[in-house]
Amino acid sequence: MTVQFKLPELPYDVGALEPHISRTTMETHHGKHHAAYIKNMNAIMAERADAPNTLEEVVLLAQKEGNKKLFNNAAQSWNHAFFWESLSPSVQDGPSGDLKAAIEKAFSSLDAFKDEAKTKGVGHFASGWLWLVADKSGAVKLIDTHDADTAITDSSVTPLLVCDVWEHAYYLDYKNERPKFLDAFVSKLVNWRFAEAQYQAARTGSGAWRFPV
Ligand SMILES: [Fe+2]
Repeated sequence: MTVQFKLPELPYDVGALEPHISRTTMETHHGKHHAAYIKNMNAIMAERADAPNTLEEVVLLAQKEGNKKLFNNAAQSWNHAFFWESLSPSVQDGPSGDLKAAIEKAFSSLDAFKDEAKTKGVGHFASGWLWLVADKSGAVKLIDTHDADTAITDSSVTPLLVCDVWEHAYYLDYKNERPKFLDAFVSKLVNWRFAEAQYQAARTGSGAWRFPV
């Protein structure tokens, strides 16, 4: 029988990110947008006998087949779940340990990283995602992907954090002011403890976050 994926519960209360992201935005974003991607993906997969058991495999299969409809819904299902994990309801000062050192090596300082993240996120044309990723050597960099495109299709990197820069992520709270949303993300919302765990997974090659089955 085909695996049917469930909408993951948020790792915090739906209103916990206020005032930076409102309860209304989260109810819509998680309860409507994210839920719809998972429902659509499940509907497509239900018609197949060869469905993989993990969402990561579904994303890679859809990409390999050039099945855009499946890819878009599967990758958006994964990206959103990873985005919820990338956010923290309590403000964290910044990374520590190995990740702190890697960010300072790549960007010179945490403040410079924040500036570059804001610039890249603001400069991203239309819908997509801003990622902090690490390669196996431990080097970190910022990348952006369009629409549903996801960092997990690049086997040379492990994602550490992601920010959703689709308008539905911020329009109710910030209207057209994406820079303010990105500023809130890098200054108030980043879950650095999650990023640190992902960084260790990138270095060791195991233990990276996976979509719950
Ligand atoms: Fe989104």
